[in-house]
Amino acid sequence: MHYLDHAATAPLRPAAQAAMAAAMAEPGNASSQHGPGRAARRIAEDARDAMAAALGAHPSEVLFTSGGTESDNLAVKGLFWARRAADPRRDRIVLSRIEHHAVLEAAQWLADHEGAQLDWLDVDRDGLIDPAQLGALLAAQGDRTALISAMWANNEVGTLQPIRELAAIAAQHGVPLHVDAVQAAGSEPIDFAASGVSALSVSAHKFGGPAGAGALLLRRDAAAIALAHGGGQERGLRSGTLAVPLIAGMAAALGDAVAGRGTEHARIDSLRAMLAAGAGELGGVQLNGHPTRRLAGIAHLSVSGCEGDALLMLLDQQGIACSTGSACDAGVSRASHVLLAMGRTEPQARAALRFSLGHTTTPADVAAVLDALPGVVASARAAAAPATLAGAAR
Ligand SMILES: Cc1ncc(COP(=O)(O)O)c(C=O)c1O
Repeated sequence: MHYLDHAATAPLRPAAQAAMAAAMAEPGNASSQHGPGRAARRIAEDARDAMAAALGAHPSEVLFTSGGTESDNLAVKGLFWARRAADPRRDRIVLSRIEHHAVLEAAQWLADHEGAQLDWLDVDRDGLIDPAQLGALLAAQGDRTALISAMWANNEVGTLQPIRELAAIAAQHGVPLHVDAVQAAGSEPIDFAASGVSALSVSAHKFGGPAGAGALLLRRDAAAIALAHGGGQERGLRSGTLAVPLIAGMAAALGDAVAGRGTEHARIDSLRAMLAAGAGELGGVQLNGHPTRRLAGIAHLSVSGCEGDALLMLLDQQGIACSTGSACDAGVSRASHVLLAMGRTEPQARAALRFSLGHTTTPADVAAVLDALPGVVASARAAAAPATLAGAAR
């Protein structure tokens, strides 16, 4: 099997597996005061220190959660509720059109149930936000804006956003900026303190830790309201017994990823460039995402005349695991909201294929894709042709 779907979930790193096995041997609840409880607490606090060091944050800014979705929800809803409680006029949320559904749906829920008004940041054909648009939106109604949410790196096309510039504009207007860094953490350098960002989401399984663990970095001066209430863990913002083995695995994975990043980034970037160049030589293949401001590991293609789903299934039959990059509803694929926001047509947005590379990827994986792709594209086009003709005849 050639696994090229690291952006969906990355294979577990051995360091994470070892840390989890060690932590699972400890019976204590990290909130208990006896010896086993203190031992569990020590593991969690060591993990907190390690996560903070890897991401340029203070340990007290690291809140453990169950993953990217919870971190995004806690940031978007928690900041919105706190800011509106402090000033009822602040009912607006600024967010980009290419956010992950964990941000989009959280904001949409606030619009549907809490009267939030959504203001959208557009992207250009490469998936890049224009900071000037944020400046204009905040100049018009910064005093009514509860928060801004913009992702560090897009999970479909891999474009990196100008986070420093966005944070500087947000700061001028005193509006907190939440950044979904789920795809960036581990592969891009992140310095939370220097970034000027108020809240930042990460998820362990995207960088070789376990699924079901994540963190929200939240500045001490950023007020938020909890989603769930209970024992008051994690500054009262995330009640619940800490999942110590998952937390230990997450910190070990991030430490491993950050320690190897210098060499790994270059290695993965060159494999991705090789894949993209080879795929780009096929007729009718378009590469999506920014040519230079991009994640090392994501190659995203639109292949004219076929459905991404068909390409995915044909590649799967040949032992290659990849993705169309976008979500599906009960198994029915939707045209990607990211590609539509980037100005692609519906058929182009449905003809997408994402290969995502990471710590286990080898040149043999890339060679297997480039071997398989011409035949797979020809088969998928042949399968799509009758439907296209029938559609045209109707
Ligand atoms: C950018 C981004 N945000 C959030 C998430 C959700 O993370 P999790 O799977 O940990 O809930 C994902 C996962 O695909 C993602 O890519």
